[in-house]
Amino acid sequence: MIPKHVAIIMDGNGRWGKKRGLTRSEGHYAGSQTMEELIDASAEVGVEILTLYAFSTENWKRPKDEVNYLMNLPVKFFNQKLPEFMRRNIKILISGDIENLPKGTKKAVINAMKETEDNTGLIVNFALNYSSRSEIVQAIYGIMQDAKSNPLLLEELDEETFERYLYTRGLPDPDIVIRTGGEKRISNFLMWQSSTADLRFVDDLFPDFKKEQYLKVIEDQNHDDDSWKECAG
Ligand code: IPE
Ligand code: IPE
Ligand code: MG
Repeated sequence: MIPKHVAIIMDGNGRWGKKRGLTRSEGHYAGSQTMEELIDASAEVGVEILTLYAFSTENWKRPKDEVNYLMNLPVKFFNQKLPEFMRRNIKILISGDIENLPKGTKKAVINAMKETEDNTGLIVNFALNYSSRSEIVQAIYGIMQDAKSNPLLLEELDEETFERYLYTRGLPDPDIVIRTGGEKRISNFLMWQSSTADLRFVDDLFPDFKKEQYLKVIEDQNHDDDSWKECAG
């Protein structure tokens, strides 16, 4: 069975660039090419939601040039890809603090979400300026605000209600979280949502994590699932 929701921590672009005597930003460009390939592969095999960790709130601490490059990528990316996404019925969502993005980036991502909002095919959800901890804190803040006019909200608060205040509202939890680049860390990504997900850590640097490697990870998950079922009898 193909997982319904796949989430990917796209790590290793900088090292990929360095290894080739290129800049870290050139590594990010290569990563963006791989990302396009994985979007295609996901649509092809019937993944319904693909969440891609593109920029964490911690990433602001990187050198200015690199941050500028990463903030410009969505502008270029959507400029180039939106007509194709429309043609292919792909819907774009953003999980993260959109308000505090640079003006041009914010405009590009809001436009991409608006243009594609009625599309009913693959959902590509970019975690951009994302932090799992901030997401949880802003959810609590939202609940407190709404409780002022609706005190029952606090009394009736449960997991389902809480989830409606997360950036990922309306999306099912990821079935599998893949991290490329060899590090075994979550790095502040979907901590609430991935409570029950399979975690897969792969050594490929993200630009090298092509369709073939991606499908293999999804396939492996199937085999693992089956063997578990056999064991459980
Ligand atoms: C991409 O990989 C992650 C992003 C922030 C876009 P990195 O830039 O973290 O690459 P490494 O881990 O330094 O190799
Ligand atoms: C995680 O990678 C964030 C993204 C993929 C956007 P990082 O390279 O930023 O994470 P750390 O620094 O290894 O935890
Ligand atoms: Mg990294």
